[in-house]
Amino acid sequence: MAIKHFLQFNDLTRDELEHVYERTRWIKSQFKDYHQYWPLTDRTLVMIFEKASTRTRLSFEAGMQQLGGSAIYLNTRDSQLGRGESVEDAAQVISRMSDLVMIRTFEQEIIERFAANSRVPVINGLTNEYHPCQILADIYTFIEHRGSIQGKTVAWIGDSNNVCNTWLQAAEVLDFNVHVSTPPGYEVEPERANLYGHDHYEEFADPMEAAKGADLVTTDVWTSMGFEAENEERMRDFADWQVDSDMMHIAAKDALFMHCLPAHRGEEVAAEVIDGAQSVVWDEAENRLHVQKALMEYLMLGKVGSGN
Ligand code: CP
Ligand code: NVA
Repeated sequence: MAIKHFLQFNDLTRDELEHVYERTRWIKSQFKDYHQYWPLTDRTLVMIFEKASTRTRLSFEAGMQQLGGSAIYLNTRDSQLGRGESVEDAAQVISRMSDLVMIRTFEQEIIERFAANSRVPVINGLTNEYHPCQILADIYTFIEHRGSIQGKTVAWIGDSNNVCNTWLQAAEVLDFNVHVSTPPGYEVEPERANLYGHDHYEEFADPMEAAKGADLVTTDVWTSMGFEAENEERMRDFADWQVDSDMMHIAAKDALFMHCLPAHRGEEVAAEVIDGAQSVVWDEAENRLHVQKALMEYLMLGKVGSGN
């Protein structure tokens, strides 16, 4: 059987996503009821981090343990990965000693090369281009609060970064719309986002126009990891792209607010929004755990039934 990786959001079809979400519901309910579910006993997840993380590390490590397996953390600083061993060689070795690999790194090309040389499934835990596990959790969170996302409008305010690109891919797979507003010079790059077309998103110069009537308003840091040298310039360029309560008022009445976290109150989001009634950021963070458990189950075991 061909190895199934999750390197970009569109590596999963709509049918596969529906299965993963059905399993997420069941796995989450088992966890909430303190029922043990150990389908991955004796299996090992290796987590490679070339950038910092709180949520991704915690949710994968805890998730693997909760499924009966174990997780090993490697980073660039104290492994041979930071001393010039090739990605291809590392992939050969790591994938002979483990059953699943999660990587957080810089260019998408690195994870693609790793996957091409891996004997086991590889999961993207964030690259400069994409953050598929985040949007997997965000859409699950939307569904929990509001039902199907099909036909809905998501307003993306801020940088056209890895999280934005992944929303755009998800819109194509799950048939919803994204209204994007970025400052001039930070527009969506469709090739980098690896989109099929332009049917599922629209760009707005004015962030208020993008937010108008949206079912979900979401944003992210102005400076992503790896782009710190641009921080000062970005603080100036993004100053008018803060999600504040005026913006939430112009969105649909029952609009949700999401942020992948970590957040900077007073920069990309006003405290009154992220700490307000429309914000579901803690559910979003928690759901990383549940969706990734369902994802790991699917990549390792295929479509197991809900009767487990
Ligand atoms: N949202 C997210 O991926 O958080 P971490 O950087 O803490 O993993
Ligand atoms: N866009 C952010 C997301 C952090 C989870 C970054 O890449 O730093």
